[in-house]
Amino acid sequence: MRNESPTPSTDQEEDDFLCGILEGLRSCPKTIPPKYFYDAYGSRLFDLICCTPEYYPTRTETAILERHGAEMAEMIGSSCMLIELGSGSATKTPFILQHLAQAAVYAPIDICEPHLLNSTQRLQALFPQLDMQPLCADYHQLPSHVFKHHAGLRKVVFFPGSTIGNCTPDEAVQLLKRIAALVGSSGGLLIGVDAKKSPDVLNAAYNDTAGHTAAFNLNLLTRMQTELGAELDANQFAHHAYYNETHGRIEMHLVSRCKQSIRLDSESFEFDEGETIHTENSYKYSAQEFQQLARTAGWHLQSTWHDENELFNVHYLSQSVAEPLKLAR
Ligand code: AVJ
Repeated sequence: MRNESPTPSTDQEEDDFLCGILEGLRSCPKTIPPKYFYDAYGSRLFDLICCTPEYYPTRTETAILERHGAEMAEMIGSSCMLIELGSGSATKTPFILQHLAQAAVYAPIDICEPHLLNSTQRLQALFPQLDMQPLCADYHQLPSHVFKHHAGLRKVVFFPGSTIGNCTPDEAVQLLKRIAALVGSSGGLLIGVDAKKSPDVLNAAYNDTAGHTAAFNLNLLTRMQTELGAELDANQFAHHAYYNETHGRIEMHLVSRCKQSIRLDSESFEFDEGETIHTENSYKYSAQEFQQLARTAGWHLQSTWHDENELFNVHYLSQSVAEPLKLAR
C-alpha cells in the first residue's frame, strides 16, 4: 500500500509521517502532531475552513494587516528579507509585500510543496520586483544558518495565522528563541496571535456547520490509510473540538465511536469506546499574555495592533531594544 499516495511524496517525508504517527499512537494519551494535517487535500480543506462564517481568525487578521500594513512595513524597514513560516496560500502576505521596496526578498516556507509553489507563483506575478525564494521545509527543523548568505538584509519573520498556538507555552518560548537565532541581532518578528474570548465563539470556530473542520481532522485517518497502508475504519471515529478553559486552548480530538483497533506497520493500537487521539492544541493568548511570553524568549515589543473587538492581535517584536529606523531619526 505504500507509495500509492495521491500526491507522490519523497521517501523521507513518508518515513517522517510513519515515524510521527507510530510515536503518537504509542504514547498515552494517543496523539498525532498537527503538521500532518497539511497534505494537498488537507491544505485545501484548511483554506475552506478559513472562509467559513464561524472561523473568524483569518478574516480578522487579514483586516488588521490591510488596515495597518503600511505602518507595519515602516517599522519592519522596507528593504528586508521577509521570511514567512507556514506560508500556505499566503493570502495575507500582499498587505505587507505591497509596502516593501524593490530590494526586498520574500522567502516563504511551507511543508506542502504544491501549495508553496502555487502561492509563490501568484505572489511573484503580483510583485514582479521582489526576489522570491520559496523553501519547502518543516519550519520546526530549520537550521539557524539557512539564511546566513543574505548578510546585507535585515531578516524579519512573518508568522501569521496564530500558528504559534499549536505549541504549548513552553514550546512557544523555544520556537520564539529559534526564530531569534534565525533572524539575528538586527532581526524582527511580525506575528499574529488569536486572543482569549467567549468559549461559545471559540467552540463555533472549530465546529463549523459546513463540516470542513471535521473533514480536516478526519483526513489524518485517510492519509494513514492511503499513504501508510494503515488498517482502520474512519467512519468509527468522530471529530471533537472544544475550548479547554483551564489551559486556554482549543483541543481537537478524533474520538473512537467503539472498541476497535488500528493496525499500522505490523503494530496494533487498541481503542476503548470514547478514547481519543489528540490531534491539535490551539492556545489563545491575551495581548499581555503573549507579550510576556515574547519577553521570556528575549524579544522586545515594538507595537501591537488589533481589531475593534480585540478578537485577534498582531505584534511586532525586535531583537534590539530600539529599532535602527528609530535610532536614525
Ligand atoms: C493554523 C493552527 C492556526 O489552530 O486555528 C483551524 C488550525 N485547526 N481549524 C488554528 C485549525 C482547526 C489553526 N492554525
